[in-house]
Order: sequence, then C-alpha cells, then structure tokens
Amino acid sequence: MEMEQLRFTGKIRPPIVLKLGGSVLTFKDKIEAPRMDAIERIAGEIAEAKPESLLLVHGGGSFGHPHAERFRLTGGFKAGLTQLLGLSETRRAMVKLNSLLVEALNRKGVPAFSLQTSALTLTRKGRIASFNLKVVEGFLKLGVPVLYGDAVADLEKGFTILSGDRLSAYLARRFGSPLLAFGVDVDGVYTADPKTNPKAKLFTEIHVGKGFKKILGLIEGSKAIDVTGGMRSKVLEVKGYVASGGKALIFNASKPGNVARVLRGLKVEGTLIVG
Ligand code: IPE
Repeated sequence: MEMEQLRFTGKIRPPIVLKLGGSVLTFKDKIEAPRMDAIERIAGEIAEAKPESLLLVHGGGSFGHPHAERFRLTGGFKAGLTQLLGLSETRRAMVKLNSLLVEALNRKGVPAFSLQTSALTLTRKGRIASFNLKVVEGFLKLGVPVLYGDAVADLEKGFTILSGDRLSAYLARRFGSPLLAFGVDVDGVYTADPKTNPKAKLFTEIHVGKGFKKILGLIEGSKAIDVTGGMRSKVLEVKGYVASGGKALIFNASKPGNVARVLRGLKVEGTLIVG
C-alpha cells in the first residue's frame, strides 16, 4: 500500500470482496497441506494491485473440509466430547491457514488483519443471525481484513460450518460492494466438471432472474470433499447480493496475474453473475 493510502479518514469506501477458494490455497486431497507458492504469489498480486478498499475471505480446503466431514460438523452438535474436540481442531486448523495468508501479505507490505469469523458471527440453522460488522469496518479503515469460512456457534444446532462463500456474499451485501469476486481453480462455472469432462461448457454470464432455475439444474456439485457444496451453492449464495444490484465474478485465481487484474478492474475470463 502507498503511504498516501494509509491516511486514516474514518470513512470507508465499499470494499471489493475477494473470496479465495480452498482449492487455490491448499491441496484439497491432503490434510492441512498449503500451496505455499500460490499463497505467496496471490499475496504479491494483491500488493501489486493496491486496491483502495479490499476485504478478503478464504475457504478451508484441506484445513477445513476433511475435519468438518470427519466430525460431522455441518449438522451441529450430536455426540459428546469427540465431536467437540473435532470442532476445536477444525477452528485451530483454520487459524493456521489464515496465519499463512496474513503472514504472506505482511511480507509483501500489505497491512492485512486476521479476523476470526467465529468470534464475530452467530448463525441460526446455518444462516447468519448476528455479525459484528463494526469490527470489520474498523479494520477496513486501516487495511485489509482477512476472514474465512469457519466453524461457528449456532443458536439452534450448537455449532455449524459457515462457508466462506456464504460469509463473503453476506459481507458484500452489507457493505454494498461494487464487486464480489470468487477466485477458484477453474475458469468459472461450467455445465459439468471441466477437470473430468472435456465437453463441459463455460457460462460467461448468469442472470439470477429468468432462466436461473434451468441453469442451476445444469451446474454440477463438487466432486472433492466439500461440506459446503462447491460451485452450485456459490451461485445460490450470491443471489441476494446480485438481486440488490451487486456484481459477482467467478474466475481462475490459480492462473498467475488474474487476481491482480480483477482487483484493477481489468477483464479476465470467468463467469459473471448479475441480477
Ligand atoms: C469451509 O469454507 C470452512 C470449513 C470447512 C471450516 P469454504 O466452504 O468457503 O471453503 P472452500 O473454499 O470450499 O475450501
């Protein structure tokens, strides 16, 4: 960040919300395995793009999904101590991944601030029931808050998994963000999994109005362990935000240069979701 950007104005510009998928930052088929080269590169691209107002959210990848699945965390509190230790382990693992990203950003000179999602959020049956937006706003005035999909306390289920997708769509809506960008490891939303199906076709634009149901039917769920639903639920989560005038983009953050281009407002290949 440039020195002139470091003026404390007490006002915030609605931030771009960038969600970095777990499949970009980690090896999804292992346990707690970070892709350090990707983390380092993306931190560099963020530093280089110098966005005026940015809020980061990251996913769990192999720091979240394997634990959440093993201890059946999405369904909430069921069975005693083992599950609660699993809940604690999941939250610890997410803190680790979050630290790796924040440290990389700091090394590149970005004033990034780790914010623990589970300390700011309460859900009710998985939906965000209360969220301490003021804290995020406070750090947004100072630099780049970095939140993440997390295991959070739930008013009815005891706890649940709040995906980074749901959280980032919520934040984009609350802040009136000009852009909600999802950096994933494919070029956008396809009719099938492009990694396994060569006939998969990319949607360049999706409208959440007419014809939305049909498109949803065409989008396949995720094949990897993903307790929060993959691509299909991403499209569903952004519905409210884009219906209220927002613009969402799903693009490939594994391709070098794309994160910087998106933050600079330049065109990249991807799926644009609009109202
Ligand atoms: C999941 O967040 C968080 C946990 C499982 C604790 P996301 O659902 O946003 O993660 P990715 O991006 O799919 O890995």
